[in-house]
Amino acid sequence: MRYAHIIGWGCHLPERVLTNDDLARVVDTSHEWIYTRTGIRQRRVAGVRETTTSLAFEAAVRALTVAGILASQIDLIIVATSTPEAMFPSTACRVQDRLGARKAGAFDLSAACSGFVYALSMASQAIATGSIRHALVIGAETMSRVLDWRDRGTCILFGDGAGAVVLQGSDVPGGLLAYELRSDGSGGDLLKLPAANGNPMPFLGPEYYNQHKQQTNTLSMNGRQVFRFATQVVGSSIQEVLERAGLTMADVDLIIPHQANTRIIETAAKKLKVPPEKFFTNLDRLGNTSAASIPIALCEAAEAGRLKPDNNIVFVGFGGGLTWATAVIKWNVTRPEISPMMSNWRRLLFSLSRVNSWARRLGRRLGALFGGSFTPEARLKDADKWKIHQDE
Ligand code: COA
Repeated sequence: MRYAHIIGWGCHLPERVLTNDDLARVVDTSHEWIYTRTGIRQRRVAGVRETTTSLAFEAAVRALTVAGILASQIDLIIVATSTPEAMFPSTACRVQDRLGARKAGAFDLSAACSGFVYALSMASQAIATGSIRHALVIGAETMSRVLDWRDRGTCILFGDGAGAVVLQGSDVPGGLLAYELRSDGSGGDLLKLPAANGNPMPFLGPEYYNQHKQQTNTLSMNGRQVFRFATQVVGSSIQEVLERAGLTMADVDLIIPHQANTRIIETAAKKLKVPPEKFFTNLDRLGNTSAASIPIALCEAAEAGRLKPDNNIVFVGFGGGLTWATAVIKWNVTRPEISPMMSNWRRLLFSLSRVNSWARRLGRRLGALFGGSFTPEARLKDADKWKIHQDE
């Protein structure tokens, strides 16, 4: 049995800042209302050219640089996201291609705001069994693309961004000590984001579709119920996982919760009888970035020197599904010095892998052009030939 240690971390945020005052120009709200109910002052939103993949890629590059390993050493990439550009190819496959991680399996994981902790535990299990050595676990979201900007109850809460960690298998005890993944699908209606094709109605003609399509794939939420659910599960889940790890609250150095709402975090702190400072927060600046919020917060905590070797760190996520997930890890790393030359060298490698990817695409096109195409017409021709042979 091997131990899965975090050896690299990185995050990436879009540049564009959206303040509460900016929102007050879009919906009937105010900075005062948003800040007192949620603790959020501002959030980042993706620019036109930014995508979940581009944010995830940048976070991954940083995490690999801190880890000091090459993309070709990665065995598995999991991207936790609720805002992929497509059902397939997955965001993870797109990141794999851009990184040039040619030996990696890749898939997306959907567990809403608990996604990162789910993904972390899946990758750690694969490491623990010895089937892989290195995994890249990413949480990435462009929530701004799935919000109903007319709904003041939800559009004020969310932001965009990505965070990533590199896990490495080792015989040194530590890393992921224990985890718990939970769900309650009966609460699925409380927080939901239908798929782009998720219109539950049969096709009733273009008029119907045109009338309703705007509402088919934006996020909706029952804020009060979600608030109640979150405050019920966070404290008890942390306690259960600490028990599994043979630790008590006194052994915990930092809790990195999903960044949803300051009042949820304060309520959890009260229930656990710990000072709120034990919880790391950045939601005043970034809002709720769903599956990206824990890895971004981890990254900021590490950069701020809040994580020391031998610290016990708790991650706790909760959200749509309903899902919730908690993990406790022993932190074993100090941040390495990264020279600008090394960073530039790595950037060059990633540029080369893009060229390689283009070359492969071109190769496929040329292959199709000169070697026969798998177009529907070509298939029909093949089918005809086949029929003639059969008739003969
Ligand atoms: N600005 C001003 N007023 C708003 C508003 C806004 N942005 N959003 C809602 N309101 C209004 C409502 O319309 C309602 O008005 P009414 O009384 O005239 O009908 C009033 O404020 C109270 O609405 P309610 O939804 O009950 O507010 P709340 O106190 O529950 O706060 C949330 C709303 C969303 C801040 C709170 O429920 C929450 O944080 N829930 C958890 C959400 C969350 O974290 N989700 C993600 C989990 S992963």
